[in-house]
Amino acid sequence: MKAMQICEGVYWVGAIDWNLRNFHGYETEKGSTYNAYLIVDEKITLIDTVKEGFFGEMLERISSVIDPAKIDVIVSNHAEPDHSGCLPQILQVAKNAKVYTAFGAGVKDLSAYYGDLGYTGVKAGEQLCIGKRTLSFVPTPMVHWPDNMVTFMTPENILFSNDAFGQHYASDERLDTECDLPEAYIQARKYYANIVQPYGMQTGKALAACAGLPIRTICPSHGIIWTQHIPDILALYKSWAGGEYDDTAVIVFDTMWHSTEAMAHAIESGFLACGLKPRLYNLHYCHNSDIIADAMTAKYIAVGSPTLNNNMMPSVASFLTYFRGLTGNKKKSIAFGSYGWGGQSPDQVHEALAGCKCEALLPPVRIAYKPTAEQLEKLTAEVTEAVKNSQN
Ligand code: FEO
Repeated sequence: MKAMQICEGVYWVGAIDWNLRNFHGYETEKGSTYNAYLIVDEKITLIDTVKEGFFGEMLERISSVIDPAKIDVIVSNHAEPDHSGCLPQILQVAKNAKVYTAFGAGVKDLSAYYGDLGYTGVKAGEQLCIGKRTLSFVPTPMVHWPDNMVTFMTPENILFSNDAFGQHYASDERLDTECDLPEAYIQARKYYANIVQPYGMQTGKALAACAGLPIRTICPSHGIIWTQHIPDILALYKSWAGGEYDDTAVIVFDTMWHSTEAMAHAIESGFLACGLKPRLYNLHYCHNSDIIADAMTAKYIAVGSPTLNNNMMPSVASFLTYFRGLTGNKKKSIAFGSYGWGGQSPDQVHEALAGCKCEALLPPVRIAYKPTAEQLEKLTAEVTEAVKNSQN
């Protein structure tokens, strides 16, 4: 396995995880990459490492360029183990390497994982000269952990952005000019929604901190490297971090005997009548992380559950728990569901949505057993009226 040269003296030396299908609850149907970067200068520098288990792949790629024992500097932009997992192993090879990480949180987090390996904490604006090149460190806390920072390198003007601008997208192509670009954008959106979304304010600050940098290349720690499409990915991040809405409405439900499903379709008709683009997700078939990616920019969300043993269905509770943890912008919501006798689930869903910063458009909607055509028409009319009122 060989390194991939990005420009003279700068190489991708990471690992491709074709088999990754779950990243702490996030379904990664396209796998991922763990991107590490090697800079050959007076001080040989490694930016981040890779997940434990991929050390051999990284070492082979580094060895295709230089003797790994010659590494002088390791920059750890983020302590999460998908990027720091091979730090102890590379330090056994590069015995004289000095590790730079964010002052405070970076040192604390790396120490918690690996003990004291002799970390040097760097603060905002600190610089490190590695020869012809200079590294500048910019803290980006909560994008995606408290310790995150990015590293900007001159004179090539490369931003090593770690989790920011990344995608869980395994590919043999490394650059945005070579890869399936629409897929890269889909995966960048899904990544933002499932990893970064709750930290929109912090992402906005990070974008502001990087705004003055004359970035020519963005090297994230997952997925493809941005070279020709930097304005596009920056604009997307600005829009997502700003919590901007589109004209979609998401309807998420589970169903036992198709009654709650019929209610979902009645709500769909109400959204359609208001000029919105509804998207339906039956939790039998759809993964939470895919729904979250689509829901991110929707202003309206309806969540339905039949009542099962006095509760909402576990699949709906799972979705709402996941949604609560990732809530970004405020949404307008509808809780609904069918029931036989207890009928508690719409109230429970309503309460859970309130805990997700949602503002209810309607009181919880419940229909016993099988909805009649009249009940469904009434529901459509109520949704239409409530949405129209909310748009005025
Ligand atoms: Fe890719 Fe927060 O680690």
